[in-house]
Amino acid sequence: MAGSLDLLPASYEDFRRKSEQRMPRFLFDYIDGGATAEVTLRRNVADWEAVKLNQKVLCDASQMDCSVELFGETLDMPVVLAPIGMGGMSARRGEAQAKRAADAAGIPFCLSTVGICPVEEVAGVSETACWFQLYMLRDRGIVQEILDSAWEHGVRTLLFTIDLAVLGTRYRDIRNGMTGGLGPWGKLRAGLIDYAIHPGWALDVGLKGGPHGFGNLAKYVGHSTNPRDYAAWVTQQFDSSVTWADMEWLRNVWKGNLVLKGILDTGDARQAISVGADGIVVSNHGGRQLDGVESTAVMLPRIADAVGSDTTILVDGGIRSGQDVVRSLALGAKAALIGRPWVFALGAGGAPALSRMLALMKQDIRTALGLTGLPKASEVTEKILLRE
Ligand code: GLV
Repeated sequence: MAGSLDLLPASYEDFRRKSEQRMPRFLFDYIDGGATAEVTLRRNVADWEAVKLNQKVLCDASQMDCSVELFGETLDMPVVLAPIGMGGMSARRGEAQAKRAADAAGIPFCLSTVGICPVEEVAGVSETACWFQLYMLRDRGIVQEILDSAWEHGVRTLLFTIDLAVLGTRYRDIRNGMTGGLGPWGKLRAGLIDYAIHPGWALDVGLKGGPHGFGNLAKYVGHSTNPRDYAAWVTQQFDSSVTWADMEWLRNVWKGNLVLKGILDTGDARQAISVGADGIVVSNHGGRQLDGVESTAVMLPRIADAVGSDTTILVDGGIRSGQDVVRSLALGAKAALIGRPWVFALGAGGAPALSRMLALMKQDIRTALGLTGLPKASEVTEKILLRE
């Protein structure tokens, strides 16, 4: 941001910096960071930027249409708010606020299993159903109960995360003591002192924003209210033994749209289709899992070439602007998921700031459509790219 942080944030970087100023360090780093050296995290962003748009003029940009059809819904723009664990800690009852902003923008909000607000709270925001994300937990009875509860609260589109059989090492989280090991001074620094130097967040979220556990899991974790106990429970519940056979089981128990999130290989994309998935998310988990893998901007067109005519492809990882959204459409996605951008916009100023960020993103989408000669988002093809 060129000027003062008191001025209106406009770009991704502005919202990010404002959030960094407001949030405690551990939380900002948890959202902002990636696995190990963060090579894939950087690659994700850089590789979208490297995709060149081809300017075409005098193509009648007066009938712009940013909408797309996705899983039976009409989206006002091809953007979905991605499921983010603890995303709701960036502002008071964060996921409920994000859902309000998503509703106003006419796009879906996808609640994470490890979000702060439970599905009933997010579903209670409006008549519009949210999407839901789930991991495979060891206890299939719990998986089934969570799915039943999501269905009961109107969820019809499930993003099932399949790239978390083992957890990526995140150096920032280790440094901040999120995986334990801090001495007494470290605990004070990462706890009370961090809250004291972020009083706005401490009051809004820390004091007034409880409960802070993972709302969807509260009844399984027992009476504990300590976020570390929740995190430990989740880690111990993640099922590392998951295979494609479990996806067949899942396909049988979930009657709604099933979208497998975490595909980065054409063979896996084909397998997802063969187990009956309705769609896939080309994803490397925002660079948070296996550092060193290819960016989604590079893998998307390869996967789209292989299976694009047989399934619905979404993408995430490194999408920072409306131009990136349009680039993703050109490379074969039906819509893009944004994660860090919504969490940082919310952290910068709650639902109003998120609404403003989404309006800016839509404006950028319009500009990109209007000046590449294909003014309808649903008709974008690779023709809008400069191929050298
Ligand atoms: C969980 O999905 C994470 O990336 O932290």
